[in-house]
Amino acid sequence: MTVSEPRSIIIDTDPGQDDAVALMLAMASPELNILGITTVAGNVPLPLTTLNARKICELAGHPEMPVYAGADAPLSRKLVTAENVHGRTGLDGPDLPKPTMPLQSQHAVDFIVDSIMANAPGEVTLCALGPLTNLALALQKQPLIAERIREIVLMGGGLFEGGNVTPAAEFNIYVDPEAAKIVFQCGAPITVMPLDVTHKALTSRVRVEAFRALATPVGRATAELLDFFERYDEAKYGSDGGPLHDPNVIAWLLEPEIYGGRQINVEIETASELTRGMTVADWWRVSDRPANCFYVRDLDDQRFFDLLLERLATLRPAR
Ligand code: BDR
Ligand code: CA
Repeated sequence: MTVSEPRSIIIDTDPGQDDAVALMLAMASPELNILGITTVAGNVPLPLTTLNARKICELAGHPEMPVYAGADAPLSRKLVTAENVHGRTGLDGPDLPKPTMPLQSQHAVDFIVDSIMANAPGEVTLCALGPLTNLALALQKQPLIAERIREIVLMGGGLFEGGNVTPAAEFNIYVDPEAAKIVFQCGAPITVMPLDVTHKALTSRVRVEAFRALATPVGRATAELLDFFERYDEAKYGSDGGPLHDPNVIAWLLEPEIYGGRQINVEIETASELTRGMTVADWWRVSDRPANCFYVRDLDDQRFFDLLLERLATLRPAR
């Protein structure tokens, strides 16, 4: 039996409670080689997403993880944040210590470009959990990276579920639609985790209590993160629990067989005020526009939560 090499990834993120769970899942997974974590303004401003990423690395026992700060605003628009969902800190819920691990001095966009150019073509996967500003800037700075990227896996968009920040748009795409347009048109293989699938990953009470019952700092912190995070969506959707969006990006790399979707064309609306950031997803293939992504719609949600629980159970804090 041959043991395959861990898959090299960069995680671009705006933590965010669900980003935090995604980061922990990745750090708990030996199948993945995390080259670095890059931060972007999104759920909260950049200084907070950058602080939060390092808090989570330390919680997960990985203070050696390189973290790079990136764009503090979308390409051409004013930043829209989501404190109403994530709280003032972006990571409301647990009381996590101020991190002591360093922030790298290199800019996130340079790190992304250099990593892709320094590795063999088809080696590096980009995991995008927030607005796509850093990825777009990297593609603008060095267009040659597009053909060297193994895959971009991103959380964003929605079709059947509509939007979550406007009737038409999902938050990550809404915040920086111009960046999303650049990414969707770049030609690299793209897998999209839209609201259509993440709304099937609900943090029910039983699932949150299972994290708490791990009785580890990571288990308790995860339960507290989810307790805070789900309150907004429970009130909005009337569901038992809220959608756990971003960890689907990482779970896709680990267990793609629990997902279902199809190759379709997705274009991004940037001009209309009413539908800014809409992912115009041609699920029924009614246009002749060529497919540019694998659009995920289905999920075995119990296997997703089993995977999360099993992996997060292995993590211990650095201090
Ligand atoms: C996305 O927006 C953010 O609030 C979450 O972290 C997730 O990435 C869901 O629309
Ligand atoms: Ca996010």
